[in-house]
Amino acid sequence: MDRDNISNDIAKRVEELRDEIRRHDYNYYVLDSPIIEDFEYDKLLRQLQQLEEAYPKLVTSDSPTQRVGGGVMNEFSPIAHATPMLSLSNAFNGGELKAFDRRIAQSLNDEYEYIVEPKIDGLSVSLEYIDGIFSRGATRGDGTVGEDITLNLKTIRSIPLRLREPHTLIVRGEVYLPKDAFLELNKRRKDEGQALFANPRNAAAGSLRQLDPNITAARPLDIFIFSIESIEGKDFKTHSQTLKFLASQNFKVVPIVAITKTMDEIISICETWIEKRLELDYDIDGMVIKVDSFAQRNILGSTTRSPRWSIAFKFPAEQKETKIEDIVIQVGRTGVLTPTAVLTPIFVAGSTVGRATLHNEDYIKEKDIRVGDTVIIQKAGDIIPEVVKALKDKRTGDERIFTMPTHCPECGADVVRLEGEAASRCTGNACPAQIRRLLIHFASRDAMDIDGMGPAIIDQLLANNLISDAADIYSLKYDELIGLERMGEKSVNNLLDAIEASKDRGLDRLLFALGIPLVGVRVAGILADHFQDIDKIIDAKEAELLKIDEIGEKIAYGVISYFREEQNLELIERFKNAGLRLSVKEDKVVGESLAGLRFVITGRLSRFTRKEIKSEIENRGGRILSNVSGNVDYIIVGESPGSKLTRAEELGLKILDEDALEGMLTRT
Ligand code: IVH
Repeated sequence: MDRDNISNDIAKRVEELRDEIRRHDYNYYVLDSPIIEDFEYDKLLRQLQQLEEAYPKLVTSDSPTQRVGGGVMNEFSPIAHATPMLSLSNAFNGGELKAFDRRIAQSLNDEYEYIVEPKIDGLSVSLEYIDGIFSRGATRGDGTVGEDITLNLKTIRSIPLRLREPHTLIVRGEVYLPKDAFLELNKRRKDEGQALFANPRNAAAGSLRQLDPNITAARPLDIFIFSIESIEGKDFKTHSQTLKFLASQNFKVVPIVAITKTMDEIISICETWIEKRLELDYDIDGMVIKVDSFAQRNILGSTTRSPRWSIAFKFPAEQKETKIEDIVIQVGRTGVLTPTAVLTPIFVAGSTVGRATLHNEDYIKEKDIRVGDTVIIQKAGDIIPEVVKALKDKRTGDERIFTMPTHCPECGADVVRLEGEAASRCTGNACPAQIRRLLIHFASRDAMDIDGMGPAIIDQLLANNLISDAADIYSLKYDELIGLERMGEKSVNNLLDAIEASKDRGLDRLLFALGIPLVGVRVAGILADHFQDIDKIIDAKEAELLKIDEIGEKIAYGVISYFREEQNLELIERFKNAGLRLSVKEDKVVGESLAGLRFVITGRLSRFTRKEIKSEIENRGGRILSNVSGNVDYIIVGESPGSKLTRAEELGLKILDEDALEGMLTRT
């Protein structure tokens, strides 16, 4: 028979085989209850492969044979999420869960019901289906733009490549590596002399970010779907309804642990699961509590970071025993002296810990912690190591009682402890340790994210008197930087580009970067959302601050005191003059015409400022990068372009002058 002329029988047989294989995949990977032997399954798959090889025209993207294969990728392309992928706020104890419940009760007039689910410790992904066929999937990325990992996701057998019905929808879920697969993988890596993964989550992350899908396919990743982001032509009233629907479409859906109206019941469920989780064959790091009704979720709304209708109860941290070898002092960016334990290194909650905070003088006294003690440590919020208690019956008599220094170990200034405060502070106005820490914080990723400006560069800038505060960063010149250690032309240009790019981070990042006492990422976000502009925050009265949900007296006092200082107001003025954006970014999405495209700018432009170009491109889904590489699609070239142009030409990138750029923007 002519191979282009495929008989109906063959096409029908191919479809039958696919249906049968899909059914077995579902039984095995989703329901965990196979109904045939492995060899029978392999036979079916082989038959299908042979038919598809003989009649390549019959191959479809949703065929079970298409899970593995696909070439090796050079990079992951960006994908803009249709709606931002938010995260959850956390509760660490029953009290915080009750406070959450009170906030819900205050906002809702009617009764409400909660769903409790396990919080899977993996990686958030989104999956898109068009007419029932899996079309693409992405990582969370920064919440707005993720990376296209479609080929890797296809290797996950519990992700259906075709739904039961031809729905067009986007779902979200958590990819994870089961515990036994993690142990097996690490065992193999050890035998092969490869670096081990710290925990299943890291292993899952490493596996999903493989450019070669064949490597991902060899790691038995799995997924739990926990929500529908959008769906055409359907309207669900509750979260529990959507989970039922998702299961009916062959998804592996996160289990519902409870549906209840009372927080007391939820607290006791959460407590039970602290132990019970150890029985699961996958890691969970807490429980997620969600209001079930979508109408009520709409009333509650979301902040820019997280929904107000949900909270994650995080399990208490893993604890380990080790020894305190010494207690040293760290001077923080606000001048606070933090006693820090130097520990015999120990592996806890996924990494090796060598230091742990002792918080303050009172903490050490209350817990009677001494140098030489055997202690229990844990990671607060699974991140920051802290000493929980000393094991006094393990003392030998050689332990030494710690006393707080009376002078700053960094600058020699007096150390004071104000009445009612736990913290001891350095009184030095120009304590170099404080300035240094503040600058490191200012440039760090969650703050102004100045790529390349880490502690080593900051130390050099300080040593050479090129900066003495954060605003000085914005007047650094090429000529000043070029002579510094390990700073060649390329690094200097990259650093200057990164400094320029940081001007547009926006109000929430700047507020966090300033290092105002008690203003962390979350509070900075709340303040920025509420006031929208730095001047309004500077003028805010205490009463106004206190009206904001989650802002208490201490934070209000910290904010007001900060902006009362002449020196700080001057700093803000200098940021303004340097062109920093001190307001909330308006979301002016114009379209998706440049989605996924990456641009680099070089040289002086006459019609646009760099800031304007950046927002024009970003509003159309494109991105501006600082460095030329094979990942870049276009280089925008102004007058007197730098070495970036030469490099771009070598790489064969597309070149745009201002006219071409304008044309591209007006066309789209
Ligand atoms: S619902 C608005 N449910 O936890 C975000 N998330 O810290 C709604 N996660 O990004 C998320 N298990 O990656 C939800 N049962 C579950 C979850 C879950 C794990 C992850 C998810 C999310 C992160 C939030």
